[in-house]
Amino acid sequence: MFFPRIRSKTVLISLTISIVLTVLSVILIIRVFPDLIKNEIFKNVRLIRGTEQYDRFLEIPFPVSFKVFVFNVENPNEIISGQKPVVKEIGPFVYKLHWTKLVHGTNEDDDTISYIDQQIYEFDSEASGNLSDTNYVTVANPVMLGILQLSEKFGQAHTVSNCLTDILDNINTLFINVKVKDLLFDGLKFCPRHLSLCELPKNIVCKMAAQKKNMDKLEDDSLQFSFFNYKNKSHETLYTITRGIKDVLTLGQTVTIDNSPYTQFWNKLHKNSTCDLVKGSYISLYPPQISEESTFKIYSTDVCRSVEINFLKEKYYKGIKGYMFAPNNSSLRSKFANKVEDCFCAEQTLGTHGENTCFLDGVLDMQPCSGAPALLSFPHFLWADKIYLDGVNGLSPNEAIHKTYLLVEPVIYTFFMSI
Ligand SMILES: *[C@@H]1O[C@H](CO)[C@@H](O)[C@H](O)[C@H]1NC(C)=O
Ligand SMILES: *[C@@H]1O[C@H](CO)[C@@H](O)[C@H](O)[C@H]1NC(C)=O
Ligand SMILES: *[C@@H]1O[C@H](CO)[C@@H](O)[C@H](O)[C@H]1NC(C)=O
Ligand SMILES: *[C@@H]1O[C@H](CO)[C@@H](O)[C@H](O)[C@H]1NC(C)=O
Ligand SMILES: *[C@@H]1O[C@H](CO)[C@@H](O)[C@H](O)[C@H]1NC(C)=O
Repeated sequence: MFFPRIRSKTVLISLTISIVLTVLSVILIIRVFPDLIKNEIFKNVRLIRGTEQYDRFLEIPFPVSFKVFVFNVENPNEIISGQKPVVKEIGPFVYKLHWTKLVHGTNEDDDTISYIDQQIYEFDSEASGNLSDTNYVTVANPVMLGILQLSEKFGQAHTVSNCLTDILDNINTLFINVKVKDLLFDGLKFCPRHLSLCELPKNIVCKMAAQKKNMDKLEDDSLQFSFFNYKNKSHETLYTITRGIKDVLTLGQTVTIDNSPYTQFWNKLHKNSTCDLVKGSYISLYPPQISEESTFKIYSTDVCRSVEINFLKEKYYKGIKGYMFAPNNSSLRSKFANKVEDCFCAEQTLGTHGENTCFLDGVLDMQPCSGAPALLSFPHFLWADKIYLDGVNGLSPNEAIHKTYLLVEPVIYTFFMSI
């Protein structure tokens, strides 16, 4: 039979070919494919105009979720009569963050791009479940505490404390019961226009307060404080980061802020300290090929500093393997044995006994950054000195829940972050 002969030959040939193909594909898998992937990834992550990566950089194509937990003060009256504060965590109040960038220019020689951030926050009632941003919470009055610390600085605490009614208007109590939306974005109004016997101290304090970054000045010249409204607008800060076109492994490194490699926040003693050095990855852009040995510095403008994160473990997110990187238990320290990072000891916000102080482990003075008496810690005083935790009831730090981490897909460059 004629046909089967041909057929068997074809089979043989095709078998040979397929063996060759198999060998080739083995080689492809072992040798060629990773290089191909690597080249493809390297090509695709560079910030080149007109690419998908560039568009993603200009506008993160999905809203980022921004979650806020508030510690409600359960016993305000008892605290005033000397009892220990009892707090209860409420949240998350979830906001959608729409994040875009306005490019100001590129520098071919330095391989950098400069831009300004634009962020719009929108309350996400679906993700917030049964919580609404119109819920009321009781918190220590940030405006009163700020005003009093401010006036103490210029020796006017006594005068100012006699004028608090005129300065604070409707929010003249140590603890206030306010809507979450007013506390976070809409603002607490003070420094009203109407004349009073306290005109002079009021003017001084209100002028000083108006300079702070959490303040909005209203048309009638009164002021409005909120924790995050300053984030919900186009910012003025100019960032310059590397594009990774010349060397992809340097992609996304912050090079300067407002054209300087150093900020001016932490320079109480000497300029250009390690604390002021602008160094680290732009928050959503990392070089490809992450390994367990990689360490990152992340520069965060919210806290005006960079924080180093190291590999912790592998973790799956929706079935995809990721590497978890996290800051460790000594990341928020102001005093170090080697003195190099003592510059985070700002001694501006007054300590628990009203003194100028370096805060203990796990708590950092943010006044140089925010302009207002504010402290930074991990949630629930995680990794902080026991003194702080013992001072409040209702906190339960737990590494598994309260750690800040970054989850990076090690090969194809996607990430997930939880703060
Ligand atoms: C943020 O600002 C926009 C206007 O630019 C406003 O529509 C929006 O309500 C603000 N977001 C919040 C959470 O207040
Ligand atoms: C909201 O839901 C949580 C459980 O999901 C519940 O513990 C809480 O009491 C609810 N809050 C209100 C105000 O209904
Ligand atoms: C700090 O750094 C800037 C920018 O590199 C430089 O121009 C300036 O001279 C430095 N100042 C000091 C005191 O070292
Ligand atoms: C914590 O991380 C810092 C760098 O951010 C490092 O120098 C230090 O050795 C680490 N400490 C521990 C206990 O792992
Ligand atoms: C920080 O971590 C190190 C090593 O993991 C440990 O020896 C130390 O006790 C920890 N310190 C605190 C305050 O948790």
